Amino acid sequence: MERFICLLIGYAFGLVQTGYIYGKMKGVDIRKEGSGNAGSTNALRTMGIKAGLITLLGDCFKCVFAVVMVYLIYGKTYADIFPLLAMYAGMGAVLGHNYPFYLNFKGGKGIAATAGLILSTTNVWMVLICLFAFLGIVAVTRYVSLGSLAVVIIYLIEVVVYGQMGGFGVKPPYLYEMYGIAAFLMLSAFYKHKANIVRLMNGTENKISIGKK
Ligand code: G3P
Repeated sequence: MERFICLLIGYAFGLVQTGYIYGKMKGVDIRKEGSGNAGSTNALRTMGIKAGLITLLGDCFKCVFAVVMVYLIYGKTYADIFPLLAMYAGMGAVLGHNYPFYLNFKGGKGIAATAGLILSTTNVWMVLICLFAFLGIVAVTRYVSLGSLAVVIIYLIEVVVYGQMGGFGVKPPYLYEMYGIAAFLMLSAFYKHKANIVRLMNGTENKISIGKK
């Protein structure tokens, strides 16, 4: 039951579509412009750097807030499995972001929300590895999608390695549930990026450029 409640809390926070809301305030429907994705890359692409940054921060921190909310509710009672409950909240935030019911389930791709989960539930080294991998890949290739896909793969590896080292303080079988959620987040990101993957393979993926608008 706690898991379901954490998932629901995460979903509720995930529904806050920063890029969509910001776009509406500026008279732009982000889902009808650029790639049609309601995320920070498309906000940057279609509305400029300020919109991209606000969307990135909003979508990242809505997940952080979901984890904080779960901590306030269950942090003490379920201290031994809190990292697992936090991951349910993170998974909910990604699902709320990707599939908002009030936008006909057409949202974003969940990478900024996943970044919020990484930020709020892993250690500083894991955050830095994901961050530098992402920035390095995007700087070299200018493909945000490639950097995003690398992050979800690295995150899964980190969760498994750190979990096996006893880093989360969570024991099996709960630990395996955490691996399952990280794997789900990776698969879900790949599913949402399927058009990007096709374009990457064709060499037609959009490259990011900063400074327009
Ligand atoms: O996080 C989304 C990014 O990886 C790709 O965005 O708009 O280029 O499909 P977009």
